[in-house]
Amino acid sequence: MKILVIGGGGREHALCWKLSKGGSAEKIFCAPGNAGIAGVAECVSISDGDVKGLRDFAVQQKIDLAIVGPELPLTRGAADSFKEAGIKVFGPAAYAAQLEGSKYFAKDFMREMSIPTADFADFAEYEPARAYLEKAAYPLVIKADGLAAGKGVLVTSSKDEAQDFLKSLMLDGAHGGAGARIVVEECLVGEETSILAVCDGRDMVILTPSQDHKRAYDNDEGPNTGGMGAYSPVSIVTPALIETIREQVLQRVADGMKKRGTPFVGVIYAGMMLTAAGPKTLEFNVRFGDPEAQVVLPLIEGDLAQICLAAAEGRLAEAKWEPARRTAMCVVMASGGYPGSYEKGKPINGLEAAGALDDVVVFHAGTAAKDGRIVTAGGRVLGVTGIGANLKEASAKAYEAVRLISWEGERHRTDIGKRDLVRIN
Ligand code: AMP
Ligand code: GLY
Repeated sequence: MKILVIGGGGREHALCWKLSKGGSAEKIFCAPGNAGIAGVAECVSISDGDVKGLRDFAVQQKIDLAIVGPELPLTRGAADSFKEAGIKVFGPAAYAAQLEGSKYFAKDFMREMSIPTADFADFAEYEPARAYLEKAAYPLVIKADGLAAGKGVLVTSSKDEAQDFLKSLMLDGAHGGAGARIVVEECLVGEETSILAVCDGRDMVILTPSQDHKRAYDNDEGPNTGGMGAYSPVSIVTPALIETIREQVLQRVADGMKKRGTPFVGVIYAGMMLTAAGPKTLEFNVRFGDPEAQVVLPLIEGDLAQICLAAAEGRLAEAKWEPARRTAMCVVMASGGYPGSYEKGKPINGLEAAGALDDVVVFHAGTAAKDGRIVTAGGRVLGVTGIGANLKEASAKAYEAVRLISWEGERHRTDIGKRDLVRIN
């Protein structure tokens, strides 16, 4: 099978790595890829947002299966475009991708399909939104409707802060068109977990539950980031809880999208809050999470290419695979300054020594090759995954590898998985 993976971050390295380990991927291309991905796939310099360029390449290379990593090409219609050209694709159509691309679309969909979520109000104009925030009960949550790279959400107890954020979104256009419409939500309390399911439009297989660490610094302090680390499985997410989430959330997404004439093919990612009143949906993503992919993919025992092809062809029920009964943990190593501004081009030391450890995989996110060396080229630079019989072992492996790697300004969290480590001890 000839496969084209779209994207160039840690998630796509994990995808290409897992695909390369299965038996059926004869050739893997990745657009645009990165310096680590180049070790397991042929990188092609087409940007992930260039839907036409990607399709032309796939047609010319007679690609058997396209796997779309990030949300941007999906919301821009990459899956629709591949399909029109007769290329099989793992990833939802643009209509279904609105579950991630528009918070209002997602909330409206959840209301129609009776999917548990926070109560909400939505506004397309400033004045009614301002008046609502004056009278509302706090804390509450304000969300820009569109994609805003994780910066479009404010959880606050302060009316003043809420009004300032509203102004920045609706009057100052802080995130371009993303804030032209907003959603205001009730604030939920609980622990978060990410539940990812591979879906073929009708059937689904739920992957091992994971937990992301969104804040920049230890003890969940500092600004939000794309994710500083993850682990899977999560001890509090029991099989019974997974069944509840399947029935009340994931299956209703699949059934609802089918009903609307756009069967969902790809990964449904439900960001859940485990509240005292049961699991409630915070958000949907329409793709693998990053860094969640770096922990859930190593735990799949099976040929990922066959699984994705079966999903794309609507015959997931035939694809057999088992989750490994092990635990994976990923520590993200970032550039100093991330998620704010940072310098690039710093040579990275220790990659070979870390990569040579057993039960460790060093996934590249923002790296480039320069003068025969690997240098930093992004905010999140590496995702170092350790695998073990339990979280303690996985954590020891991951941090052993992290200690071998260095560059000027490097920074990472030292408490990934701590919540569960405390719980299971
Ligand atoms: P979202 O992009 O919608 O997942 O929001 C980003 C983050 O904001 C989530 O991971 C939560 O930590 C937080 N958040 C979002 N919605 C709520 C809510 N209704 N209650 C409490 N926290 C929330
Ligand atoms: N780690 C969160 C995300 O992929 O959106």
